[in-house]
Amino acid sequence: MRRKVIAGNWKMNKDIQETVTLVNEIKERLNGFNKNVEVVICPPFVSLVVACGLIKGTMIKLGAQNMYHQNDGAFTGEVSARMLKAIGCEYVILGHSERRQYFKETNEFINLKVKQALANNLTPIICVGETLEERESGVTDQIVSTQVKGVLAGLTQNDIEKIVLAYEPVWAIGTGKTATNEQANQVHKLIRKLVAQLYSWALAEKLIIQYGGSVNQQNAFELLSQSDIDGALVGGACLKADSFVSIIGAAGEVG
Ligand code: PGA
Repeated sequence: MRRKVIAGNWKMNKDIQETVTLVNEIKERLNGFNKNVEVVICPPFVSLVVACGLIKGTMIKLGAQNMYHQNDGAFTGEVSARMLKAIGCEYVILGHSERRQYFKETNEFINLKVKQALANNLTPIICVGETLEERESGVTDQIVSTQVKGVLAGLTQNDIEKIVLAYEPVWAIGTGKTATNEQANQVHKLIRKLVAQLYSWALAEKLIIQYGGSVNQQNAFELLSQSDIDGALVGGACLKADSFVSIIGAAGEVG
């Protein structure tokens, strides 16, 4: 059975003091939690070092929200996978729809980052998902398939074992509109089938596919109970310890 992975994408929220408070609150509430759930927090770059110190010895893992695809060099304002690894990150979110929308990231560019993350032993959480317009025009399957093929281009079987995919319908992010359990599970199945065609069923069966888009403590259990939903990438609801830990609790109940 696939383990559940719950990741909190803090986006551009929480300064250093607020990071200390939130991480300590999450730690406190997770104390004694012994279910097989992988918990990841992804604070802004400037909070990563402090967060890393605070989560030492706990079940919480650290992730970044983005990175550049080169290790070093004249790339003003960028941060590399090597640097993230050196400060204790184990995960990195790549290709989030906000990066695609506001910073014009393409599947090809995200693919370069995925390869660089893997080369530095970071687990990429690779995001895909259709816009409302695309869903309404009935092209969700084509869009998601193109994204998956694009971001995974050139990856080996061995690489696929080390990635996490996140299906995040853009229309459900930060809007309070969640995909229905069936809508989400259907796309997760499509992604798994595609990975099986590209690689093998054995590999596809092991692949962790998270759902993201307005996941909260009310809908988490139902979503996470679906056959092909293996975790959640949580935005708004991860900014409060109570809701984030409730979602982790829901994953534990399902698992
Ligand atoms: P949301 O964000 O939970 O606030 O919808 C999810 C995400 O963008 O990863």
